[in-house]
Amino acid sequence: MEKPQNDILNLYKNTSNIYNEETLTIKEASLWASEFLGKNITPSNISYLINYGKIRKIGNNGTTQVLKNDLIEYYKNLKKTRQDEWKDQLGEDLNWALSFEQYKEAETTKHVHRLHPYKGKFIPQLVEYFLDNHTDHFKKETYFKPGNIVLDPFSGSGTTLVQACELGIHAIGIDISEFNTLIGNCKIEKYNLVEVQTEINKITQALYTFIDNSKVLEFEEKLLQELNIFNNKYFPVPDYKYQIKRKEINEKTYGAEKEKEFLPIFLNLVQKYNIKLRQDKENSFLDKWYSQHIREEIEFVKKEIQKIENPKTRNIISIILSRTIRSCRATTHADLATLIEPVTTTYYCSKHGKICKPLFSIIKWWNTYSTDTIKRLAQFDKLRKNTFHTCLTGDSRNIDIIDEMNKVNPDFALLIKKQKINGIFSSPPYVGLIDYHEQHAYAYDLFGFTRKDELEIGPLYKGQGKEARDSYVEGISKVLLNCKKYLIDDYNVFLVANDKFNLYPIIAEKAGMKIINQYKRPVLNRTEKDKGAYAEIIFHLKEK
Ligand SMILES: C[S@@+](CC[C@H](N)C(=O)[O-])C[C@H]1O[C@@H](n2cnc3c(N)ncnc32)[C@H](O)[C@@H]1O
Repeated sequence: MEKPQNDILNLYKNTSNIYNEETLTIKEASLWASEFLGKNITPSNISYLINYGKIRKIGNNGTTQVLKNDLIEYYKNLKKTRQDEWKDQLGEDLNWALSFEQYKEAETTKHVHRLHPYKGKFIPQLVEYFLDNHTDHFKKETYFKPGNIVLDPFSGSGTTLVQACELGIHAIGIDISEFNTLIGNCKIEKYNLVEVQTEINKITQALYTFIDNSKVLEFEEKLLQELNIFNNKYFPVPDYKYQIKRKEINEKTYGAEKEKEFLPIFLNLVQKYNIKLRQDKENSFLDKWYSQHIREEIEFVKKEIQKIENPKTRNIISIILSRTIRSCRATTHADLATLIEPVTTTYYCSKHGKICKPLFSIIKWWNTYSTDTIKRLAQFDKLRKNTFHTCLTGDSRNIDIIDEMNKVNPDFALLIKKQKINGIFSSPPYVGLIDYHEQHAYAYDLFGFTRKDELEIGPLYKGQGKEARDSYVEGISKVLLNCKKYLIDDYNVFLVANDKFNLYPIIAEKAGMKIINQYKRPVLNRTEKDKGAYAEIIFHLKEK
């Protein structure tokens, strides 16, 4: 049978591809191979491959070139899976199941886990792995069952409590930071969602009226129009970024020049709409990091929230406000995580490759987070079991769990007394890594909570020197000794730690415990610049 014309055409296209194949210079080949393998491949490595006939040399016009296909063929056999490579570096006992690489971000931040930002939380799937009833090659028994009680003495944003609640396990959290306790309790609270929505709607309406009086939205709209015109002209998409990549534009000088050029347009509008960029005082975080208009809106919403009678509804809406104001700090997009200096004018934004503006109203984030919160609470409501779960504020080294629980949840206190706690699942702070109070400085100002920074174990501000390490060992072992009083005899304690100073064997000893197992978990999505092989340990401890 005669071949259809299309097939002949395709055959021709495929054959001609071989001759049109992409070629690379030696330098380009080394860059490509470095990216492909995730390690440095130099131009002389590529020359070596040519000289030893591993890949072909093509082109006689003076510059040596190679075929990209040849490189792919050669390197694909050498490229090991990340799993193999990491195991080579970190040991065969690396438990790849604990990498949770199959989960998308939406799943690791599912439902209430993303109710409020919190730096240093563990992912829910990790908690689930240890609390649920599955077994595998590494986890040979189950440690908790529905109706048991689990304790997290460093409960942070409450991840353990939420996952325990999904699994029907009662949970107690303790944290030294009152704001963290609020986040945790808000996540596991059961709400009247209709009431929460009604209160949000009332506040939103009132906020719109409040803003209308200030002309700030009109100002922002005008500013956005001007920015649009300017950015389209000087930062066309995608050409501008392409030119930067090819080093045809010096981003630093060009960005600074255009930033300066736009400033008078911005200042004109500021004057026209009578916008006050800074507050008169700089005494507190709220004074320093918010423009005058944003500050007024924050105070307005705060007062509206205070009028809500139901404390549960009041708390969850306070969390929405806190999340909102966190996103409205006067900073550039690039510096959101590490505040440097307040930014109150338009600026060149290296993240977006154009001139950006600070915020002048909270309304956009307030609306976004209100909708998002209701959605997340409703999702969790479908999954939760009817368990006890409470987060207490206190120092885990000496808190009396029964007494404190009795004040807020007497039924739970009784159950703890009767049943005792089956075990601990927790990620303690590590030496000199994070200041837990400071990361939510805005919220302490907003709610007027008392800060107890000096009672944090291992804060960043105390560094990682010998004294800091000794006091850390002392602190964590004291927590374990205190918590042991409430545990059953055959308890299981799981502590997630990045123990680079090898302190946990001493901590266990001091707490009268022994480490009976260590689960090595590959940490794939680290925020640090160093993306090399890295594992954290989940220590399994029992009574000595
Ligand atoms: C690594 S974080 C826990 C994060 C948590 N696993 C989560 O997923 O959100 C450690 C927590 O320990 C708390 N902490 C530090 N010192 C404490 C102490 N003395 N008593 C109780 N909590 C403390 C910090 O405030 C911080 O929230």
